Amino acid sequence: MKIVSVVGARPQFVKLAPVAVALALAGHEHVIVHTGQHYDYLLSEAFFEGLDIPQPNVQLDIGSGKHGKQTADMTAGLEPVLEQQCCDIVLSYGDTNTTLAASIVVGKMQLPLAHLEAGLRSYNRRMPEEMNRIVADHTSDLLLAPTSVAMSNLQREGLGSRAVLVGDVMTDVCYDVRDRVEASGTVGLPGRKRGSYLLATIHRAENTDEPGRLMSIMESLGRLARPVVVPAHPRLLDACRTWGIDLGSLGLTVCDPLPYDRMVSAIMGAAGVITDSGGLQKECFLLGTVCTTVRTETEWPETLIDGWNSMAPDPSSLHEASARLRPTQNRGEPYGDGAASGRVATAIERYVSGRRV
Ligand code: UD1
Repeated sequence: MKIVSVVGARPQFVKLAPVAVALALAGHEHVIVHTGQHYDYLLSEAFFEGLDIPQPNVQLDIGSGKHGKQTADMTAGLEPVLEQQCCDIVLSYGDTNTTLAASIVVGKMQLPLAHLEAGLRSYNRRMPEEMNRIVADHTSDLLLAPTSVAMSNLQREGLGSRAVLVGDVMTDVCYDVRDRVEASGTVGLPGRKRGSYLLATIHRAENTDEPGRLMSIMESLGRLARPVVVPAHPRLLDACRTWGIDLGSLGLTVCDPLPYDRMVSAIMGAAGVITDSGGLQKECFLLGTVCTTVRTETEWPETLIDGWNSMAPDPSSLHEASARLRPTQNRGEPYGDGAASGRVATAIERYVSGRRV
């Protein structure tokens, strides 16, 4: 069987890593197409190298741009590649503009399409990712859902018959890397005592693109009870440059975006995490670190169990939210058992062989 994975942005590389292993173990031909949505070494190659992902077979080098232009360039780039590849199925990941582009092209070409991480909803249509998720789910033939909440969301939209609950492949990679970090004795950030710092990442447009809001988030972070380390996405640094916000003078320690293993290690050693990322909320939950999310809602509601994650859309509430204690209750396994990627391979095989009959 021949499968084409379309990826382009950092969170998609993390999901691709365990899926590439599972597809290789099952003996399938796997072609990786990278749209080039993320192109900085630390947002792209560092993940391929650190997670042992095979190099992309095709690199479209699309780069950054406004949403319409970026998505249009990706669709124009993907069409001839998919015409040439003659695959059994295309696999798209998550909710980025790369996911949207793959959905449009594959849907128009009438090729079979599977969507990994199907069924997530924030119910906030202002988020570009929410639009991308909805289009991806409604154009896909096979919906690979990570959680039972995602399955229910798909059923409510009339998509239940195409959906399979496989679990979350991010759990596979997160547990694997956690075990390696623990075994190597490198938990935490170099030079910082475990539990002595907070980790913060802010990169979403709703937080970075309005100067008053960005300033009040960053000022609040700078006033927290422990030192705050900020691995900075280029979008955050661009916004700070544009609005004249000096993170250092607010008392924040800024560093480059972290490779996956160092991010897992930094989360494990942190007293808490403050973020607007979807993936980080879940990684905190999986790794047992308290998370505070600077957004109005989350597409990962399971993280809210017992207060492991807490929503803090108002920057003035960050102090209180990030000072809360680590819950003691068992978190259960809402994101699966760490073996989702094998079930992804099986679900794809069943779907493709059912079509061939
Ligand atoms: C994208 C995803 C988001 C995901 C995030 C992870 C969409 C709509 N959003 O957001 O869901 O959480 O990736 O990082 O697809 N830039 C660089 N170097 C790069 C890539 C981007 O400097 O390698 C800068 C550019 O100024 C660019 C900006 O970051 O305009 C935003 O990049 P973009 O890919 O549009 O979206 P992200 O904010 O990264």
